[in-house]
Amino acid sequence: MNNNLAIYQDGKDNKKPIIFIHGFPFDHFTWYKQVNFLKSTYHCITYDIRGLGESPAGNGQFTMELFVDDLFSIINDLNLEKPVICGLSMGGYIALRAVEREQGKFGGIILCDTKSEADSNEGKLGRAAAIKNVDKNGARGFVEGFIPKCFTEKFITLNKKEYEEILDRYITSDPVGIKGCLLAMAGRTDTTNFLPKINIPALLICGGEDRITPPDVMMAMAGKIPGSKFLIIPEAAHLSTFENEKPVNLSISDFLDNINGV
Ligand code: MLT
Repeated sequence: MNNNLAIYQDGKDNKKPIIFIHGFPFDHFTWYKQVNFLKSTYHCITYDIRGLGESPAGNGQFTMELFVDDLFSIINDLNLEKPVICGLSMGGYIALRAVEREQGKFGGIILCDTKSEADSNEGKLGRAAAIKNVDKNGARGFVEGFIPKCFTEKFITLNKKEYEEILDRYITSDPVGIKGCLLAMAGRTDTTNFLPKINIPALLICGGEDRITPPDVMMAMAGKIPGSKFLIIPEAAHLSTFENEKPVNLSISDFLDNINGV
């Protein structure tokens, strides 16, 4: 089932489903603050994207389409009825492409710290350099350079233990999985032209201090999605859902409560 993906379910499966799709190079763990808040009211599904966390990398030949296939296989195998999908960064790329492929499958979309544009040439060269770095220094080489950019300096200073636990968790990632995700992101399509065609409820969330997918980029994206809501999370960078979970949780729960039939 599900290509051996590691899948986690919290809350009763007769409640309305929400699937959380994590960012790169993280895993399902990064959603625990949302899951703990929502699990008494919703059926919360998290999983590890192929090659990350506990999901095996296999041959490491990943594409964004394969990631979307994996998401659809979870929806089918768990018999989920119109789930809301909530994706952060790379998880947002997967969510946007999944909705572009089959909008009718979903009850709503939540996009956190992400963008619709494909990689620029500069971005692709950055992925190539990151792959070389992983070949030379293992996952640690990439993770130690990237994860500090996902948080505010204040968070890193004030939450040293929590931050170091995160670093420790991801420096042991499978290098094959890391490289596969980099290739999948470099080769993904651009979903910008699809944004005006989104006709399911949409919520966009962005850390006010996100330097990877900054608020102005997400505000422009929200401007193209009819009827969408956009929220800036103060005192948070790229991993806004983890860094300042309270306003995130309230906005997600308000969004879910207001979706018809959810
Ligand atoms: C992520 O957080 O998932 C990554 O920053 C996405 C990316 O590298 O484009």
